[in-house]
Amino acid sequence: MSDNIIFNLIDKLEAENSLSRDEWKTLIGGISVEAMEYAAKKARAVADRIYGKDIFIRGIVEFSNICSRNCYYCGLRAGNAGLERYRLSPDDILECCRSGYEYGFRTFVLQSGEDPYYDTETICSIVRRIKEEFPDCAVTLSIGEKSYEEYKAYKDAGADRYLLRHETANEAHYQKLHPENMSWKNRMRCLKDLKKLGYQTGCGIMIGSPYQTIDCLVDDMMFMQDFKPEMIGLGPFLPHSDTPFKDAPKGSYEMTLYLISLCRLMLPNVLLPATTALGTIKPDGREQGVLAGANVIMPNLSPVQVRDKYMLYDNKICTGEASGECKACIEARVKSVGYQVAITRGDHIRGEKI
Ligand code: 5AD
Ligand code: SF4
Ligand code: FES
Repeated sequence: MSDNIIFNLIDKLEAENSLSRDEWKTLIGGISVEAMEYAAKKARAVADRIYGKDIFIRGIVEFSNICSRNCYYCGLRAGNAGLERYRLSPDDILECCRSGYEYGFRTFVLQSGEDPYYDTETICSIVRRIKEEFPDCAVTLSIGEKSYEEYKAYKDAGADRYLLRHETANEAHYQKLHPENMSWKNRMRCLKDLKKLGYQTGCGIMIGSPYQTIDCLVDDMMFMQDFKPEMIGLGPFLPHSDTPFKDAPKGSYEMTLYLISLCRLMLPNVLLPATTALGTIKPDGREQGVLAGANVIMPNLSPVQVRDKYMLYDNKICTGEASGECKACIEARVKSVGYQVAITRGDHIRGEKI
């Protein structure tokens, strides 16, 4: 593929924020060092124009690693009997937020497996307590598939944002990554409900998940181009040794960076994290993610005693560090590439173009 065709498609994406299915296929399939550099440069300029030199940080509280689901790729799956399980109490969670606030976090992400122990009222009361104690902070939930009524209750309690990766926009592919009792249609229903309820809504995928093809990635870009999420989580697939996908190869670091850039060009205002998985596959992956157009980093705020138990994949970083260490580490990393950590909620900026 001639570089010219690819560069022209990148220019077109930047100008129009959307491409046809065939154009996406050419662009994604045409990944090269030159295409990555060209897309990253443009994507970074777009992010600079909208969000300046600020990188937003979110403190993630991984409050339970108990999960009733059995996603084939994930180390927290119910079928993984080798994992020591834990739950944090509402008081423990509040304590994490208090230390996070001191470090400058103004968004708290509450993340867990799908753990029915935390019923609707428990989640709502945790959200209310955080919002009462820290009215200048945003609360993001990342607790999986729920009913419309549950999502509404969390929203009414004060939750601002919700992360639920769609994992793949291709239904047949979804079924290869999940057991039969999980459905792609319900995943999509959840994402639509979240948007309807006014959440800043995040979807996303693993790059290089087993059975993923270029056509799957095209489906993902087409889906996101239409759905217009406020946030997109992209990270490489990384195998976990106690899952059915233990022998599957890692996802591509390069493709992850390339898609970060293309997402920025497609949705200029999107909140786009340089993910922990990106920092796991390459030591400076998150810095490179920022240079490719990411504008969010989500360090861990969980108590250090439980960190090594929230193992979605092997060799996850930050499992031995305390929250203060991660905060300082992120600050230095962000500075090293010419950016600064902002002490702010870091909401999505609305509006198509600035
Ligand atoms: N590799 C990379 N990402 C993973 N996730 C789960 N397991 C893995 C893995 N093995 C991601 C999924 C999920 C999010 C919480 O973590 O995309 O939505
Ligand atoms: Fe559970 Fe989420 Fe892991 Fe699936 S990806 S097994 S729902 S924690
Ligand atoms: Fe946790 Fe670097 S972000 S140690």
